[in-house]
Amino acid sequence: MTIDLSPVITIDGPGGSGKGTVGQRLAWRFGWEFLDSGALYRLVGLCALGRDIKLDSVREIANIARNLEAQFAVKEGDFGTEGIILLEDQDVSSKLRTEDCASAASQVAQYDDVRQALLERQRAFRVEPGLVADGRDMGTVVFPDAQLKVFLTASAEIRAERRFKQLKTKGMSASLSAILADIQARDYRDTHRSVSPLIPADDAVILDTTLMSVDDVEQKVLELAKSRFLQLGGLS
Ligand code: DC
Repeated sequence: MTIDLSPVITIDGPGGSGKGTVGQRLAWRFGWEFLDSGALYRLVGLCALGRDIKLDSVREIANIARNLEAQFAVKEGDFGTEGIILLEDQDVSSKLRTEDCASAASQVAQYDDVRQALLERQRAFRVEPGLVADGRDMGTVVFPDAQLKVFLTASAEIRAERRFKQLKTKGMSASLSAILADIQARDYRDTHRSVSPLIPADDAVILDTTLMSVDDVEQKVLELAKSRFLQLGGLS
């Protein structure tokens, strides 16, 4: 018996490469589900920080990942419908975007038990009519059979600048040099860990976005998706 799984586009890359924005826009355009897998690692990190659990207590952190009570929801905000993330019924969307949370996420993401605990939860996002999944190991581990795999890169400096502007727009305080240092530390941890490191899948299309706007990247991935899904029978 063959099971027809819904189509998946994976967008992997380091923090600040634009994968979240582009992934979300494409999912919206296609009417597909969107998985922000980094948010799951951030939720585990946030939960551990909130409970004063040391980030190297692998057993306790894996337990948090196994029992994570999180929901991805939408609410009507000042600027229209916006996606929000609930942890034990509390809206933690803003907290999740802080650098502390990003750093905690990168640390807890090193543990295989934590990654295993989140694996099925991520795969459950694969529903009809399709899924756009963003993260670090979407194309290599979580959805190795994805129909289109994209890997975005950009220099650490430009990614730090993008993050800086993003935080400023949200009215959050930020220091460019601190963000750059965090990004470099996170890049190192994410690419050097022994389980599911940040690397492009063999069959991924690699795009350097250093000199591209978000609109350019969206357009490029859209073209790739159209040609790939056309070959596969059309993207409706
Ligand atoms: O994409 P992000 O910045 O929200 O991810 C936060 C951290 O979570 C990142 O530094 C590493 C980890 N992560 C991961 O290990 N695997 C993923 N698929 C997504 C994120």
